[in-house]
Amino acid sequence: MRRTFAVSTARLRIMMEAFRGEMRRGLNGKPSSLRMLPAYVDRPTGRERGTFLALDLGGTNVRVLQVDLPGDGRLPVCAEDRFVLSRDKVTADGSVLFGALARFIGRFLRERRLSGRLPLGFTFSFPLRQASIAGGELIAWTKGWTAEGVVGRDVAALLNRALAAERISGVRVVSLNNDTTGTLMARAYLDPDCDAGCILGTGTNICYRERTSEIRKPVGPHGRDHMIINMESGNFNAVLPRNRFDVLLDRSSANPGLQAEEKMVSGKYLGELARLAVVELCGRGRLFGGRLPEIFSRREAFGSERLSEIEKDDSASADGVREFLWDWGARPAAAGDARLLRDVVRAVSGRAARLAAATLGATVTKNDPALEAKHSIAVDGSVFHKYPGFKARMEETLRELFGGRGSRIALAPMRDGSGLGAAVIAAVAAESAKTGGKKPGAGW
Ligand code: BGC
Repeated sequence: MRRTFAVSTARLRIMMEAFRGEMRRGLNGKPSSLRMLPAYVDRPTGRERGTFLALDLGGTNVRVLQVDLPGDGRLPVCAEDRFVLSRDKVTADGSVLFGALARFIGRFLRERRLSGRLPLGFTFSFPLRQASIAGGELIAWTKGWTAEGVVGRDVAALLNRALAAERISGVRVVSLNNDTTGTLMARAYLDPDCDAGCILGTGTNICYRERTSEIRKPVGPHGRDHMIINMESGNFNAVLPRNRFDVLLDRSSANPGLQAEEKMVSGKYLGELARLAVVELCGRGRLFGGRLPEIFSRREAFGSERLSEIEKDDSASADGVREFLWDWGARPAAAGDARLLRDVVRAVSGRAARLAAATLGATVTKNDPALEAKHSIAVDGSVFHKYPGFKARMEETLRELFGGRGSRIALAPMRDGSGLGAAVIAAVAAESAKTGGKKPGAGW
């Protein structure tokens, strides 16, 4: 299995070259697996001020935040609430989903006794085609979401309509952003070297700061020298080292043929990849005496959290892994089974970390091939923060690819950046409305 999931340095270099090529093609409006979506926002100055609400819709965990930006580079959260979307909300009709979001915002306002006009920044962690900072259409669902009637619609308008239906007149969506853009903006509010953002969680994606002169495809009016570009890098599919398990996983996914890189790297899929490898090994009689334990027998039953638990045990005996297997009902598990399972898991996560590092390396070297400057990449997401050794393996890969200069690419952990960033973006939108002669939230 180690060989099946191995990716050599040479292969990573070829992939990086292809990635930069896809970036250029996407910017030029040519067919590309990288969508290269302008976000109609540039880095903040750190002096933006005001009180904003942020709605962070990333996975099934939704957050509302109230953020008071003092304009001195701090990012204090005044209030925050979370709620969990049930599975039916993300797969039913879109109106059910947006209704639930609006009611959640209503409850947040009531519990905090907030009233008056509150501009809201909306982080929507899916591919968005934007023509301004204020709204954008959903291009396609990812990460297994399928809510109907949302693809092709402006999701900021859908939320505003749902807020109106709930008679929440004080809140209005003034800006819309992807979670990678939110993460970059939150970090950049504090760190002027930050020029890229990345999510490594349930899904994966990268955004970065680009000169607008490099964007040759038609874009809406923006009046900026630079813009953040949401690449939708999880959809990258050129020269990826895909193996038979990647092919199997894709076929049974909710979006076959799409998000090829995401399906090799992100938390939604790592467990399933390992499970498919276990099924094969067991079928060949090399694991569990050929009798597949229940936990490996159903699609997506073996989640990525279990992979991280397995990797927490790095003892030679793998006794910890045996205990987990016992708890998960995989009995009896021989020491050899535990060690082989851990090898499979390491192979799957090791490949993910290498691919993630290479795509980030390719991103920053598009405009700085010799890595002359320092690049700080704001990174958020459960895989990056919680998976044992993931960040270290990414850093090791960057050194392998760029030698000493690899350390010029700093992976800067940015927790909860997507929510905070939405507030920063709402503040930027308010500032530009002021300088454009309009009142923030004009027409409200
Ligand atoms: C989505 C991206 C998002 C990423 C991380 C992907 O599935 O397409 O828009 O940034 O997940 O949440």
